[in-house]
Amino acid sequence: MTIERILRRALGRQRPVSAMARAYRSALTATINLKEGRPVSAGMEDPHFKARHVDVPAILADWFRPHSRIQDADVLDFGCGEGIAALGLALGFHPRRVVGVDIMPDPARCLEVAKKNLPIESLPECLQLHQVEPGHLHDSEDRFDLAYSWSVFEHVDQTLLDRSLALIRAALRPGGLFLAQIAPLYYSAEGSHLNHVLTEPWVHLRTQQNRLEDMLRRAVSDATEADALWSTYCTLNKITHQDLVSRISNNEFEILRTFTTTQDIEPPAELLDVFQAEALTTNQVVVLARASGTVA
Ligand SMILES: C[S@@+](CC[C@H](N)C(=O)[O-])C[C@H]1O[C@@H](n2cnc3c(N)ncnc32)[C@H](O)[C@@H]1O
Repeated sequence: MTIERILRRALGRQRPVSAMARAYRSALTATINLKEGRPVSAGMEDPHFKARHVDVPAILADWFRPHSRIQDADVLDFGCGEGIAALGLALGFHPRRVVGVDIMPDPARCLEVAKKNLPIESLPECLQLHQVEPGHLHDSEDRFDLAYSWSVFEHVDQTLLDRSLALIRAALRPGGLFLAQIAPLYYSAEGSHLNHVLTEPWVHLRTQQNRLEDMLRRAVSDATEADALWSTYCTLNKITHQDLVSRISNNEFEILRTFTTTQDIEPPAELLDVFQAEALTTNQVVVLARASGTVA
């Protein structure tokens, strides 16, 4: 299966709500549950883990390959979550380093999660994971050849969007590459990131907000889990694919490649009166860009 096909299918798979302690992570990452992709390691039972550990690194390698090598590269994972994709990259593609940063404490769970799925006792030395303050990296002096953010930029606070892109740009060596992926985009059918609980397409654009919250709380009986899901929804920044491309371009990057996927569902007439059909059906964007300009 081609990488494009994997990306197209990415949004067709949703994951049921997991144990409540993992609700926040589940909600944030449910949309990258790629079930089909490159061969997976034997014994890896969790398809969600496989998607992040095997498929995401394979897609990154495929996109970077025409322009750069991962082997011996210093790689930044911006918004690494539990670092499972970063771990896959570190184990499978022999970079010099993979450094993952995230504003949540999720990176601290990397080994615990990995042990449940892989025969490993410790993380590779080339993998470094950090919890950081919003709007900051782990070290303003560190430099990278490659950077990526997978399912992150729709969650970055809107006041930090340009700052985050500028941070990534400043952290790249001249000519360094950045890949950004977002799915599902906010205005798409599953853009609420609540689709695994509230399945009606575009439910967030069609429903009065307090009613939406009521629906969520009725569907998710555990209050902590419901709080986490509602918080995830409320903090989505509503970025569109055009805005992402334009912001990347405006932050001293040259756009090398863009790719979008659309969902084959007819939007309801009431939404077409308000939003463009393209905005409602484009559910994923992937952008590859090269550091340009004078920042170094
Ligand atoms: C949907 S998760 C994706 C995690 C990981 N990339 C993956 O694919 O499994 C989005 C992540 O972005 C992180 N995030 C949001 N804003 C951020 C920021 N300003 N800087 C770094 N990470 C951020 C969140 O904490 C969350 O872990």
